[in-house]
Amino acid sequence: LAAVSTITLTAASSVAQASDCDPGEMVIKFSHVVAATGHPKGDAATKLAERVNKEMNGKACMEVFPNSTLFDDDKVLEALLLGDVQLAAPSLSKFEAYTLKYRLYDLPFLFKDLDAVERFTTSDAGKDLLKMMEPNGYTGLGYWSSGLKQFSANKPLMVPSDADGLKFRIQTSDVAEAMIEAMGGSAQKLAFKEVYGALQTGVVDGQENTWSNIYTQKFFEVQDGITETNHQLLAYLLVTSTEWLKGLDPEFRDQFLKLCEEATHDANAAVAATEAKNRQNIIDAGGKVRELTAEQRQQWVDVMKPVWSKFEGDIGKDLIDAAVAANN
Ligand code: LMR
Repeated sequence: LAAVSTITLTAASSVAQASDCDPGEMVIKFSHVVAATGHPKGDAATKLAERVNKEMNGKACMEVFPNSTLFDDDKVLEALLLGDVQLAAPSLSKFEAYTLKYRLYDLPFLFKDLDAVERFTTSDAGKDLLKMMEPNGYTGLGYWSSGLKQFSANKPLMVPSDADGLKFRIQTSDVAEAMIEAMGGSAQKLAFKEVYGALQTGVVDGQENTWSNIYTQKFFEVQDGITETNHQLLAYLLVTSTEWLKGLDPEFRDQFLKLCEEATHDANAAVAATEAKNRQNIIDAGGKVRELTAEQRQQWVDVMKPVWSKFEGDIGKDLIDAAVAANN
């Protein structure tokens, strides 16, 4: 219920921001699905808007619509091509309809930490993957990491067999589906905004997400506890429409792209601290966080890692090897 009042407030504040745009300014709408503040993506979007509105004042006006108030991730990519929004940052798992290469980022236990993610995404192989959406009319402006995922459920999960027979909400990702099935669970693809209600009413038993999403969406309140598995990356593609970008005045475009680049850098530099803070926020709010012994963690790795081979053909072995090498 608290989530409902947040949504109402944020919707109102987006309207207020819209009325702040001066006539003649190019309106740049950024739609996303997470909390407006205290979340890596929410904070990064807000900061980018602040800079655009200050440094491009008179030329551009950015409005941010958080919390799925404008579009959910299914619709936002269409909305970009229709010109209803100009920026979005859906998770890489949500690009399945456009490219299978991003399945790489969903492979369980691929990256050991966020530094490894940064090393890979800034490498030539990582940067090449930004271009995967170009044939579909999208330009990838950068990766925004959001953290590693943890499992939660309505009962304690210490080893994979504890998940036997449970139903987990997943993003629209076939890799995640295979991973949950390998654990003996079943997977249900649901939009992010449906997750709290689905957990609360028992439509699903558990879910997997970052500390920031688990805290800001209050998932921990309707779960028995969270197990610190760090099993999979959650990262976003900051994305725009190529046609819109091409249509901009070159000087305007350069300034805007520079702000996006700096926002990307700042977002990735801040993510580890925000994640650690939200992990602690969950504990402070009475949520239960369960740590794994090395031996327990190895059981999760052993059960999930075999799904890699299933997707190797879609992704390419070279790319998987390059990502693994970023761990060293
Ligand atoms: C999810 O659907 O769980 C995430 O992609 C939400 C988000 O944007 O962090």
